[in-house]
Amino acid sequence: MPFALPYELATGYPIHATYVSELAPDTPNLPITFHRVDIRALNDRVGSNMVDGAWKLKWLSKKEREICGNLSAPKRRQDWLAGRYAAKWAVLDALAAREIDWDRVEILAAQGGPDHGRPLARIDGQWAPVDVSISHSNPIAVACAVSHPRLRIGIDVEQIYEREASFEAVALTAEERRRMASLGAHLRSREATKQWALKEAWLKATGQGLRAPLTTLDIFRRLENPTSFAMAAGGRAATLAGWGWTMQNDMVYAWVALQTV
Ligand SMILES: CC(C)(COP(=O)(O)OP(=O)(O)OC[C@H]1O[C@@H](n2cnc3c(N)ncnc32)[C@H](O)[C@@H]1OP(=O)(O)O)[C@@H](O)C(=O)NCCC(=O)NCCS
Repeated sequence: MPFALPYELATGYPIHATYVSELAPDTPNLPITFHRVDIRALNDRVGSNMVDGAWKLKWLSKKEREICGNLSAPKRRQDWLAGRYAAKWAVLDALAAREIDWDRVEILAAQGGPDHGRPLARIDGQWAPVDVSISHSNPIAVACAVSHPRLRIGIDVEQIYEREASFEAVALTAEERRRMASLGAHLRSREATKQWALKEAWLKATGQGLRAPLTTLDIFRRLENPTSFAMAAGGRAATLAGWGWTMQNDMVYAWVALQTV
């Protein structure tokens, strides 16, 4: 009998009922599954440090419990756990396998190499045919997953607030800043945060993360004029397969799907 998890914490509000675009013609209507967790609600539900009590034993694998036990900062532990919570839902939905017990599913991280840190899913000790991505920005953790051998996915969630000019200097190209020159402060913060979130989603999908400086990636040029480029891991050529974003309650959610060719 599978262990039942409190479903309403992790889902009930998919970010977008979305599909890989026509740019990936051999994958029509392939669902990307999204799950979002309210970190505070999860924390309240499972105890003040989210690892207390018997509850933890039921949804983390032995290895995940070890990893979690080594995270000493409470915030990091909460983010990590909430990310895994969202990621397990997303992975099992992408595989249409909700019946699988959660302690058989592991969300680990690539060790070393050009995509160090990238989340990887294992089921019963075998790598699962699914790509998964995680992001957290208090109070939200999100994950998305897709099951296709050539698709790579990235997701990011960011809070919108007015930022120092120094933020734009780190996050945006000179051209991107020029395009926003006529916007008022509020709109400009939203736009800058959206572009930043799309860039992080892109860089997670490539596996590079912030090893690539954000100021070298003009995100809308990439998204609107898709050309092939080399992925971080193994240098395989890839192209854009789909992307999207949404804003809710002062948070921006962005995702990017890339297809290796
Ligand atoms: C990926 C990255 C941009 C995420 O930044 P962040 O501020 O932590 O933002 P988010 O909360 O949105 O994302 C965190 C998630 O990104 C994922 N991630 C980490 N490295 C990743 C990579 N190379 N590719 C794809 N995803 C990655 C992880 O799942 C992580 O969550 P988890 O650790 O709880 O599993 C950043 O971690 C990075 O640039 N990593 C690569 C560089 C690196 O290895 N730095 C050393 C870290 S010690």
